[in-house]
Amino acid sequence: MAAEIYNWKNKNVMITGASSGIGASFADELARKGANLILVARREDILQDTAKDLQKAHKIRVEVIRQDLAKAEAAEELMAEIERRELSIDVLINNAGIGSSGNFTATEVSETEGLINLNVVTLVKLTRLVLPQMLERDDGRILNIGSMVGYMPVPTFTSYAASKAFVVSFSNSLSYELRKTKVKVSVLSPGATQTEFFKSSGYKVKSLGDKVMMDSTEVARQGICAVEKGKRSTIAGCINKISIFLLHFVPPCIKLRLVYFISKLGRSKH
Ligand SMILES: NC(=O)c1ccc[n+]([C@@H]2O[C@H](COP(=O)([O-])OP(=O)(O)OC[C@H]3O[C@@H](n4cnc5c(N)ncnc54)[C@H](OP(=O)(O)O)[C@@H]3O)[C@@H](O)[C@H]2O)c1
Repeated sequence: MAAEIYNWKNKNVMITGASSGIGASFADELARKGANLILVARREDILQDTAKDLQKAHKIRVEVIRQDLAKAEAAEELMAEIERRELSIDVLINNAGIGSSGNFTATEVSETEGLINLNVVTLVKLTRLVLPQMLERDDGRILNIGSMVGYMPVPTFTSYAASKAFVVSFSNSLSYELRKTKVKVSVLSPGATQTEFFKSSGYKVKSLGDKVMMDSTEVARQGICAVEKGKRSTIAGCINKISIFLLHFVPPCIKLRLVYFISKLGRSKH
């Protein structure tokens, strides 16, 4: 029997980090499919403009919530706001994330703490907080955004790669725990994608690097497809999938050097 196609129409989808990059592409693509959106990020002005455009173009409901998700109590605050507005969440897309490049010892402790809060703690707490209602309805989808670097340690992206390894592992295990329910958890692992990510991570990409990056719309489409199929784990892009597969055959100490070399290769000196 053919698998049922997930129907996004009138579903309430909360997207964290919807003000740019992959999150903004999720908002565009899901608005086209008729989903109602809850957009979360710090740059409220951008979210309000997006909300206006999408509501007008697609006749959907869009809520905007300004929230700094790197704060320790961010998930509780966000869910309190969701409750105050009497909203329900059918699909949670844990997309907000930041990177940090450079030697670990050169980064501020507070920077690393913010990264782990945003990429790991808030993602886990939001997941934990939305699950009871989803399980009660026996219906729901959670899509976590991992990364290709979640499959390998990356010197000079040390905390970031470790945070994404957590996301990949957490999502896979949770998806298995929930396998007998109709609540599906997926993880999408993009490779280098054209967004504000590298700039905000302090990593200057060589101009050649731009050309090999994926487009955020294509990455979001692959994430949406994973949700529709209830797929546990997806790496965005064929070349990225092949690279991760081949990396399994590289011994760990060579893998570290290779990954470090590639990250240096893509970094512009200017
Ligand atoms: N681009 C890549 O090459 C790549 C590769 C693999 C994985 N990823 C992952 O993809 C996800 C999306 O990143 P992107 O590439 O689209 O980067 P991006 O363009 O920099 O977008 C990041 C989003 O996260 C939000 N955000 C950052 N800090 C936040 C905070 N403290 N509180 C609330 N929201 C915050 C930003 O909104 P505000 O600034 O308005 O708060 C923005 O909407 C991240 O999880 C990233 O790790 C990206």
